[in-house]
Amino acid sequence: MTSAPQTPGHSSALPRLEGRTVVVSGASSGIGAAAARRFAAAGATVVPLGRDPERTRALAAELGVEPVLADFARFADVRRAAAEVLERCHRIDVLANNAGGTFPERVVTEDGHEKTFQVNHLSTFLLTALLRERVEATPGARVITTSSRASSFGRVDLGDLDSAVGRYRGFRVYGTTKLMNVLFTRELSRRLQGTATASCFHPGVVGTAFGADTPVVRVLYRPPLSRLLTITSEEGAAPLLALATRPDPETVDGAYLDRFTIGRTSRQADDVELARGLWERSAAAVGVPA
Ligand SMILES: NC(=O)c1ccc[n+]([C@@H]2O[C@H](COP(=O)([O-])OP(=O)(O)OC[C@H]3O[C@@H](n4cnc5c(N)ncnc54)[C@H](OP(=O)(O)O)[C@@H]3O)[C@@H](O)[C@H]2O)c1
Repeated sequence: MTSAPQTPGHSSALPRLEGRTVVVSGASSGIGAAAARRFAAAGATVVPLGRDPERTRALAAELGVEPVLADFARFADVRRAAAEVLERCHRIDVLANNAGGTFPERVVTEDGHEKTFQVNHLSTFLLTALLRERVEATPGARVITTSSRASSFGRVDLGDLDSAVGRYRGFRVYGTTKLMNVLFTRELSRRLQGTATASCFHPGVVGTAFGADTPVVRVLYRPPLSRLLTITSEEGAAPLLALATRPDPETVDGAYLDRFTIGRTSRQADDVELARGLWERSAAAVGVPA
């Protein structure tokens, strides 16, 4: 994988995507909204998933489609959303797993999991599991997950996936869940065996609503620092668009890209047994077969 070429297509031009269906989670804001607009402008049928009803409905209305609402902190919502998607979509060419966030305090969801772990990893895992058959039945389909360079300081401990032990450090936990996105991608790619591909990427430091609740992150993502440090949502969406449309997705199957090129992250990302263990525990946590 390290010899894969740079992802083509990160210029502004997208191929026409009529007849293709793209499911985007986290479509109500930031990178997901920018990507959803570009996919729709290229002719794709976009299915926008969001949590906030107002924002998600507004984006869907702009694209002339129906929104799908789901709070990823609730497995019941993810199951209902997946059922809606399956009802509406006879094919899924791209599943863009983009919903995510960082939370300053440790919160336990009604499903009994630490919220960052559930929103950023477990619900993405569950949504993918529930849509997988439709993805695999669509020729050339791709599962693309928005990870982060923060994955490099994450540390996955299979004995403490809910970050219950020791002091809770929100941004460190965020990095850990973004490392889980990479491990998930590696293991998914292995299990798909070429029926579809799986890739993940770091979008850049993007000026979105990201980190709005986390003081240290907020400082970087709001003016004046954001003007120096961040790129736009449209620029942040470009690696996702490129992965979704590149002609040679098999060259980045299982890969983590730092924007447009194969990237380096935590050494744990290459631990095959860890990826398998995380998959098995995730399947048990969300109630799907491993
Ligand atoms: N911005 C960056 O610099 C950066 C860098 C690396 C990686 N990322 C990743 O990029 C992805 C998109 O983030 P962004 O920068 O575009 O930030 P954003 O503007 O805050 O968008 C985050 C998206 O995730 C959704 N989301 C958050 N919590 C959710 C929940 N409980 N249930 C369902 N959806 C939820 C949000 O939905 P609502 O708006 O409806 O709440 C929103 O659509 C995230 O996975 C993030 O980790 C961002």
